Amino acid sequence: MKYKYDSVPESMKDMQTYGFNWMEFVASIPSPLYLITSYKSNGLPNACMQSWTTFTGGANGYFAIVSSVSKYGHLYKTLHESGDAVINFMSADLYDKCMFTIQNNAFDTDEITASGLTCIKADKVNAPLVAECFMNFECRLKWEKEICDGDDSVLACLEIVKVHIDEKHLDENDLGRTGDTGILYNIHHPINPEKYAGTAHDYVGVIKKIRDYAEY
Ligand SMILES: Cc1cc2nc3c(=O)[nH]c(=O)nc-3n(C[C@H](O)[C@H](O)[C@H](O)COP(=O)(O)O)c2cc1C
Repeated sequence: MKYKYDSVPESMKDMQTYGFNWMEFVASIPSPLYLITSYKSNGLPNACMQSWTTFTGGANGYFAIVSSVSKYGHLYKTLHESGDAVINFMSADLYDKCMFTIQNNAFDTDEITASGLTCIKADKVNAPLVAECFMNFECRLKWEKEICDGDDSVLACLEIVKVHIDEKHLDENDLGRTGDTGILYNIHHPINPEKYAGTAHDYVGVIKKIRDYAEY
């Protein structure tokens, strides 16, 4: 038996969704979690935890489809000013420091250093890179669009022009990119509307391989 929903379930009507759609909590589809860094107009590093992104590529390049950049944050402003940013993937051991950037969000703060992380300049783009993060993508803004007219956030397409990856994570038999030591995922609170009573809260998780496609 399947439950079907096309309007907000009774149990979720009064829930604080922090701007998210109720369906996201019913679906609870994880997406990669990362720290995106750029320079503010005063030259200081900005850092923004970000999710709701997919990565796609082809003959014309490799792109980050960042689906929800708030128009009210520093990231949006810096992307408009310089067009450059770095996407930094952290393993679980760095999660707390990376989350600390949310508190260290003042315009006149170096958000990377203030959070106990090391800032180095990217090679190809005008943006800071977090040294401790095991994988870094140097990016340039290609285009942006509102998904619906008047949205508070934009969908931004960033072209990835250079990849940095730690040797231990490059080796899938060592730290790799998946499993306990790999990329983190943002998991929206998986709500069961049939039993729900409470507020939304999200989780952070990892992903693991279960089969090799080559078996088919
Ligand atoms: C797990 C997680 C995911 C987030 N994802 C996004 C996101 O996709 N888009 C966004 O605009 N803010 C997102 N945020 C919120 C920003 O990280 C936060 O508001 C940050 O302080 C904004 O930084 P900025 O003003 O320097 O850009 C997320 C926060 C967390 C904890």
